[in-house]
Amino acid sequence: MKILGIETSCDETGMAIFDSERGLLGHVLHSQTETHQDYGGVVPELASRDHIRFFTPLLREVMSQTGCQPKDIQAIAFTAGPGLLGALLVGAAAARSLAWSWDIPAIAVHHLEGHLMAPLLEDPAPEFPFIALLASGGHTQLIEVSNFGRYRLLGETLDDAAGEAFDKTAKLLGLGYPGGPELAKLAKQGKVGRFQFPRPMTDRPGLDFSFSGLKTFAVNTLHSHGGQSADLQTRADIANAFQLAVVDTLLIKCMRALKQTGLKRLVIAGGVSANQLLRQKVSDYCLQTDTQVFYPRHEFCTDNGAMIAFAGYLRLQHGTPPEPLKISARARWPLQDCSSMG
Ligand code: KG4
Ligand code: ZN
Repeated sequence: MKILGIETSCDETGMAIFDSERGLLGHVLHSQTETHQDYGGVVPELASRDHIRFFTPLLREVMSQTGCQPKDIQAIAFTAGPGLLGALLVGAAAARSLAWSWDIPAIAVHHLEGHLMAPLLEDPAPEFPFIALLASGGHTQLIEVSNFGRYRLLGETLDDAAGEAFDKTAKLLGLGYPGGPELAKLAKQGKVGRFQFPRPMTDRPGLDFSFSGLKTFAVNTLHSHGGQSADLQTRADIANAFQLAVVDTLLIKCMRALKQTGLKRLVIAGGVSANQLLRQKVSDYCLQTDTQVFYPRHEFCTDNGAMIAFAGYLRLQHGTPPEPLKISARARWPLQDCSSMG
């Protein structure tokens, strides 16, 4: 069977077609970076408008790229939450209506379940059970995944998400949006060890995170070294120390979660999983401890339609009932509630 996946939860419109026999047939993406760049962050109303504008052209593109006709598609999976409500509603309304007109089921997909399942599109794919670190712009969570749809939250951020901390610190350093990749680029020119940032919440037990203090630490460090007139080298040194602190903190908590559960399989997903230093440090640790580690391919770390098509396919396989004839989306939706969907 073929499933069309549609992602519109934030600032990327993504579409993909997944085939149960042949795997992923194709995917397309429109990133709204240019739309939001001047504002230094996502403007929800502009995001919704862009999703409307790009929905039909992207649909045409993914159908022609994969050589599919409407009659070839057996279900439509769409991101039903969590995310920006207006953006979600565009996807939900368009996907639900399309499914109605093509007379096929519409499947509501949890955005974070999409991220969690993205590494399963790779070869080799992780087997269950595994520990997942989900680090994106909106979430930072450690989850014990015992099977598809069986999620136990082990820890999460008490304030900013890791990606959000990257974005805010990048903005402070005068970098563009989204800040994660920009900050990582600048950090490469930085001197290791000039600044020493804390590793928040690692000196006490538990698996929760807190990243807002790191951003404040960056603000104070910049202010005491010239503020907005600080030279490029100082900014790069701050970026370097900040990135290392986030990566170390994430790694320490992953190590703790693996030890606590006795599991030897780790999945790193969400936008921050694109970070090269994180991958390098996590992979080194896993090699030393005989732990298997899995990441999505680079383009599927951040938001995309492929992970939604795939998670929708898994939902269908596990008997999750299709959406009724109504349009609904959820800005807030705990991942654990997914288990009760089918
Ligand atoms: O998963 P995603 O596309 O959207 C959400 O669901 O939030 O994640 C976007 C986040 C942004 O905060 C972005 O700055 C961060 O992922 N990100 C990175 C990198 N690439 C994207 N953070 C650090 N290093 C990167 N290379
Ligand atoms: Zn995401």
